[in-house]
Amino acid sequence: MWGMIATWRMAHDGVLAAKAILEQQGSCQDAVETAIKAVEDYPFYKSVGYGGLPNEEGVLEMDAAFMDGDTFKIGAVAGIVDVENPISVARSLSEEKFNSFRIGQGAVAYALAEGFQPKEMLTPRAKTIWEKRKAEIAANNLDPYDGHDTVGVVALDEHQSMAAGTSSSGLFMKKSGRVGDSPLSGSGFYVDSEIGGAAATGLGEDLMKGCLSYEIVRLMGEGLAPQEACDQAVYDFEARLKKRYGKAGAFSLIALDKQGRWGVATNVEFTFSVATTNQEPAIFMATPGPEQTTVIEPITKEWLEAYEKRIKAPV
Ligand code: GLY
Repeated sequence: MWGMIATWRMAHDGVLAAKAILEQQGSCQDAVETAIKAVEDYPFYKSVGYGGLPNEEGVLEMDAAFMDGDTFKIGAVAGIVDVENPISVARSLSEEKFNSFRIGQGAVAYALAEGFQPKEMLTPRAKTIWEKRKAEIAANNLDPYDGHDTVGVVALDEHQSMAAGTSSSGLFMKKSGRVGDSPLSGSGFYVDSEIGGAAATGLGEDLMKGCLSYEIVRLMGEGLAPQEACDQAVYDFEARLKKRYGKAGAFSLIALDKQGRWGVATNVEFTFSVATTNQEPAIFMATPGPEQTTVIEPITKEWLEAYEKRIKAPV
């Protein structure tokens, strides 16, 4: 049995590339890195890697993490700048006994010393979006923060190993040095090959209040199916956050268990990609349903066409 689930429509091409690895008895670790690199490399995805949107100073600071569900090894980077594939740096760091989570200049220094490629990651298109947004904010006194779509991936391979990874440029217009949930174990991701894994996308400041990825894995460990675990963790926490903190930002969680079963829960409209031994690769739309459930439907052709147009529209 093999399987992969990943956040957002943007992950689908990466899931297809990873499927080829998993079908040929390849490792879930390679599958996770391959899927996330595909998203990081694509210039029209404006919340991850190359083409990602910068912080308020115009600097593209990226966060990423990698976890091996067999050994619990974790590597992560935060605020890494102008390095080609943050996920590969995070995976490499997961092999380090000490210093496995590096930030800012330390992360860049590690990456370059290990032979990872320096690359100017801020595209002219992303810079134009940033300039226009700066002007709009100044003119209309807007809330500057918008957009925080992380690619999060969980994979299971034929050897019963599991891995998870995340990559994100974080909140658009964030303050310099702001870090979201994506590189934080338990919040942005968690995986245990003897149970399953989960990953998150959404407002990092709120996701880290609930450690939702760990909570979903914990619930699966108690015997809940991935969908039940996602529904329980996400909607219970959203209700508690609204009651105690007054509001809840957008968040969406995905999960896959060691049997290849999957689930998602979300408090917004959320697309995801999934492929398993039993599930042809497909993109689905999830929305919050009644009584702490999630409505999951195949994505429509119209939605996909509109999406392609939207992400490539002139800026
Ligand atoms: N979930 C990505 C972030 O908040 O940075």
